[in-house]
Amino acid sequence: MAGTWDELVQEIKDRLDIVDVISEQVVLKKRGNSYWGLCPFHKDKNPSFCVTPHMGIYKCFSCGEAGDALKFIMKTKNIEFKDLIIELAEKYGLEVPASHRRGDSSLGEIKEQMLAATMVAAEFYHDLLLRNKDANAEIALQYLNKRGIGNDIIKKFHLGIAPKAYTTLYDELRKDFSNEILEKAGLVLKSDKGGYIDRFRNRVIIPIQNENGDFVAFGARALEKDQNPKYLNSSDSLIYNKSRLLYGLYTAKDAIKKDDAVILMEGYFDVISSQAHGIENCVASCGTSLTPDHVKLLSRYTKSRRIYLSFDTDSAGQKATKRGAEIIKEVFAGLGDIKQFDESYVSSDKDKYACEIRVIAPPEGKDPDEFVRSVGADAYKMYMQNAPLFIDFQLNSILQEKDNYTTPQEKAQYIKQIIPILAEIKNRIIRSEYVDMIAQTLSTDPDAIRSEIRIFERANLPQVEQIVKNVTKNDSVLKKAQKNLLSVFLVPDSPFTFTQINEMIGDTTFDDEILINVKSTIDKLTYTVNNVKELIEHLYTEFVDNAQAQAILPELIAMSEVYRGLNDEDFRSVIKETIDKINHCRQIKETEQIKKLYKGIDDDDPEALKIQIQLRDKIKKNRQKSEKFR
Ligand code: CTP
Ligand code: MN
Repeated sequence: MAGTWDELVQEIKDRLDIVDVISEQVVLKKRGNSYWGLCPFHKDKNPSFCVTPHMGIYKCFSCGEAGDALKFIMKTKNIEFKDLIIELAEKYGLEVPASHRRGDSSLGEIKEQMLAATMVAAEFYHDLLLRNKDANAEIALQYLNKRGIGNDIIKKFHLGIAPKAYTTLYDELRKDFSNEILEKAGLVLKSDKGGYIDRFRNRVIIPIQNENGDFVAFGARALEKDQNPKYLNSSDSLIYNKSRLLYGLYTAKDAIKKDDAVILMEGYFDVISSQAHGIENCVASCGTSLTPDHVKLLSRYTKSRRIYLSFDTDSAGQKATKRGAEIIKEVFAGLGDIKQFDESYVSSDKDKYACEIRVIAPPEGKDPDEFVRSVGADAYKMYMQNAPLFIDFQLNSILQEKDNYTTPQEKAQYIKQIIPILAEIKNRIIRSEYVDMIAQTLSTDPDAIRSEIRIFERANLPQVEQIVKNVTKNDSVLKKAQKNLLSVFLVPDSPFTFTQINEMIGDTTFDDEILINVKSTIDKLTYTVNNVKELIEHLYTEFVDNAQAQAILPELIAMSEVYRGLNDEDFRSVIKETIDKINHCRQIKETEQIKKLYKGIDDDDPEALKIQIQLRDKIKKNRQKSEKFR
C-alpha cells in the first residue's frame, strides 16, 4: 500500500548511499571516515569536495556548495525534487501516492518504453541469428565462426543479426510500440516516403548493456567488405550516453572488482574475444574516444584504480594510448601521485596512489581480439603481468627513436619531449635514477637534463603553490607566515595531534584580528573534534556569520596542502622555521617603530637621554636576535 509522500521521501533517503550517488560523477578517495574529490561545482584542481557518509552530506570547502544525496542529484542532473523522487521510486519499485503521480507520457514513462523496445529488439535480433531464422543468419554465423565466435559466445554477448530487408524489426515491434518510441530509441528511421525503416540492416548486432544489464543501444558490424561504415552505432538517446557507458562493463564488473584492475580496449570484438577467453576484466568505449566520465565510471570498481590500456599497436593506437593516459591523469590529478615506479617489493599499500596506468602492447602488433585468438589468452596474461607503467612505456617509445636525431639542435629538440615526463616524477631519487639512465642512453649530460627540468618546473608551478601565491600575494611576509602557521592545523595526514601542534606553536601570537579569531576558534574546537576534517567542518559553521573569517579558510586549506605527507621531523622543522620567520618579521617591525620614535626626541630634554639609551639597547638587542634568522 502506498504511504504518504513524506514517508516515500524518507524511504528513498534511507536507501540512497551518498558515496555511491556521488561516485557516479566524482572520483572519491577515502581518507579517514570521509571521502574527498574534486568539486564538480567549480573548477577544482585540488580535492576540496568532501563526502561524509555517516552524516549523509557533501560539502565543498572551496566553493561552499553543500547538501545531501538528493540535492546532489538535483543539482548535477538539473532535475526537480518531485521528478527525482518519482524517478527513484520507480527505480526502487516503490509506490508513489496518487496525489503525486504524473501523467502517462512523463519522461520516466518514455524511458521505460524505450528500454522495453530496445530489449525486445535485442531479443529479436538474437533469436534470428541463433535459430538461423533469416537468410542472412547463415552468412553471419559463418562470419562469426571465422572470427572464432561460436554459439556459446553468441549467447553470452547476445549477438544478433539485422537482416537485409528494410522493415523486419519495424514490422515486429510496431505491434507493441509507438513510432515515436521506436524512433527515439534509435531503432528505426523515417524514410523518404514518410514511413519507417529499420536503422540497422545487413549487420551483426552487438547489443550494448548499461551497468544494470539493461539493453540500451547497439553497435552493428558490417557483414560485407565494402559495406560502409564498418561499424554503425546507436546515437545517444534518453537511455544511452556513450560518453558515460563502457561496453562490457556489465559482464566485467565482478572481475574488475576481484582483480582490482581493469583493461581498457578499443573495440567491441576485443572485449568479446578477451572475455570469452577468460580475460574477464576488460571494457571498451562504444565508437567514441575515452572520456573523463568513462574513467570516473571505472574508478568506482577498482579500489586501487589500476588501469591497463590495451589499444592497437599501430600509430593510431599509440596516439589513443597517450590520449587515454592523459585523460586518466586529468581525472586523478590533485588526488595524489600517479604510480610511476614499481615498488611492489617495498610497499604493499594498495591505496597509496591516485591511480596506476599500465600499457599492454605485445610486439606482435595485433589488437587484443586477434592476439587472444592467434597467440592465446595465456600469452596475453603474461604481457599483462609484465605490462610497463605508462611512464616507462612512454619513455621507451621515445628512446626507441633516438637514432633519428643526431645534430645538437635535433637532439636538444628531441630531448625536450622527455623533460615534462621526467618532471612528473615526484620522488627525487627515482627521478634522478631516470635522468642518469636517459642521459646515458642518449650520451648527454645528466646535469643539463636536470637543469632543463628545473626550468620546465618553474614555468609550470604546481597548482597549489600557484593558488597560495595568488591568494597571499597582497599579504605582508609576516601575515603570510602567520597564515602558514595556522594552516598547519589543517593538514589532513599530519603526524601530530592538535595538542602537540599547539605545544610547538607555544606562545607565538598573531597580529591580525581575523587570524587571532581563527586561532582562538581552532583552540576551542580542538577539544571537541576528532580529526582535521571535523575541525574544518566546524570552523565553517562557527564562522557562518563572519564572512571575512570564512573566506580565509579555503586559503588555509590550500596552504596546508604544502605540508601534506611530511614526516615527524620535517613537519616539526617546518613549524619551527615558520615561527622563526614570524619572530624575525616582528623584530624588524619593532625596530622600525623604535627608530621612528628615536628620531622624534628632543636632544636637550634630560629625560630624553635616558630614553635614547634604552632605545639604543633595544635596537642592538633586536639586531642581534634578527641576525640569527638571516
Ligand atoms: N568504430 C566505429 N566506427 C567505425 C570504425 C570503428 O564505431 N567506422 C569503433 C568500434 O567501436 C570498433 C572500434 O572503433 O569496435 C575499433 O575499431 P577498429 O580497430 O577499426 O575495429 P576492430 O575492433 O578491429 O573491428 P574488426 O575486428 O571487426 O575489424
Ligand atoms: Mn579487430
